[in-house]
Amino acid sequence: MLKPLLFVSTIVLFGITAASAPGPEPQKAAPASASDQKNSIKSAEKSQARAKELYGQDCAICHGNTGDGKTDLAKDMGVTLGDWTDSKTLAGKQEQELFDAIRNGKGKMPPEAVGRAKDDEVRSLIHYIRSLAKLQPVAAPETPAAPVVPVAPVAPPATN
Ligand code: HEC
Repeated sequence: MLKPLLFVSTIVLFGITAASAPGPEPQKAAPASASDQKNSIKSAEKSQARAKELYGQDCAICHGNTGDGKTDLAKDMGVTLGDWTDSKTLAGKQEQELFDAIRNGKGKMPPEAVGRAKDDEVRSLIHYIRSLAKLQPVAAPETPAAPVVPVAPVAPPATN
């Protein structure tokens, strides 16, 4: 009759040891949605950094660092390039149209080879050149604010 008793006390002892052990590690990982969001922001930042780098290497020589297209090379080529610092320049252009121009070349513009920029890098470039307009300092508004028209006070209804 001693064995079962020993068995029980072993369990009790073990239980106490387990209970006194440090609790489970506090969760380190943030909730999945938050970390996913962080990752996608990170990868967007990364692809824009890559686009900026590519732009500087392959595009700025003609289109200019700011994207205004006023470069010596453009002048020497006798071409007038769109000013991308004005958001209106690219606003009406379809993604595909810009993609084809970059990938296949257009007029005097050489194509951006697949070996230089993969398709998603070209899409990042498009995102980047569209963002150039937003990087410009905001110009002062051209039209003054509408004058405030004074409203004649309404006379209260006469009471007797
Ligand atoms: C050798 C000079 C040159 C280089 C380098 C160059 N471009 Fe161009 N780009 C041009 C010219 C010229 C045009 C105008 C083509 C036309 O309309 O005939 C043009 C047009 C474009 C257009 C079309 C805009 C529109 O209004 O349709 C986009 C987009 C563009 N370039 C993006 C880029 C990007 C991105 C790069 C770098 C990967 C780049 N270009 C490199 C000369 C250049």
